[in-house]
Amino acid sequence: MNKNKTQLTEAEIKLFGDLMPEELDEAIHSGLNRRHFMKLMSLAAAGLLASHLLAAEQLFARSADFEDIPELHPEAIENAISVNLKVNTSARKVVIDSRTSLLDTLRERLGLTGSKKGCDHGQCGACTVIVDGQRVLSCLTLAATCEGKSVITIEGMAKNNELNPMQTAFLKHDGFQCGFCTPGQICSAVALMKEAKEGQLSYLTQDLGQNAQPVMLSDDEIAERMSGNICRCGAYPNIVAAIREAQTGKDVQQTWLFAG
Ligand code: FES
Ligand code: FES
Repeated sequence: MNKNKTQLTEAEIKLFGDLMPEELDEAIHSGLNRRHFMKLMSLAAAGLLASHLLAAEQLFARSADFEDIPELHPEAIENAISVNLKVNTSARKVVIDSRTSLLDTLRERLGLTGSKKGCDHGQCGACTVIVDGQRVLSCLTLAATCEGKSVITIEGMAKNNELNPMQTAFLKHDGFQCGFCTPGQICSAVALMKEAKEGQLSYLTQDLGQNAQPVMLSDDEIAERMSGNICRCGAYPNIVAAIREAQTGKDVQQTWLFAG
């Protein structure tokens, strides 16, 4: 048998081999991880495992380890194109189906799973990342349109082990509960500060004469500008407090206290 690069136990490898003997060698070579093994097994058990799920793009692209993701041959992908991105601090070249969203490229091809897939329809904001300084919904953005662009995700917010001030403010103000929306909230909030600094207006901006002047954001303005980022845990007051602190640079009183 080939050298085992997977995270699977011998029993799991045997089960995989019993169910999908033809794919066993490839799975072992590619370093199939446990999460995707479980997913494949669940689908197989449910009778839903279509053979294309075992195609290289589906099976091999899902490693959580950024460095270990193997290059794919263009022949293994439909409509293959090559895209060059600067993702956080790294220059990355990926071969993808031209219809692949930026979100799927980040999560499934580059191992950057911080950006979340909430709705995949542009409705929740969980997938927000920053492309060339602008916040975008990565589920609605084709990776092919980002050729040569800079993409910042939540993984790139901290620098040299120092949190971004927005991350620090979210921690201080407890701006999250389950955390699912938080990467998108933070990316959105960081880009929002830039928008305010550049004088970009919102629906609520009172003084239109402020155009191109830095806008100091009221709580209502922050809420309005963050309205594309839904938090199902309802951490909104704390998110607004965190953004106000990061924007003003002034201490904002916490609205919560430790018990006892
Ligand atoms: Fe993109 Fe919901 S996952 S907006
Ligand atoms: Fe749970 Fe926002 S913290 S969805």
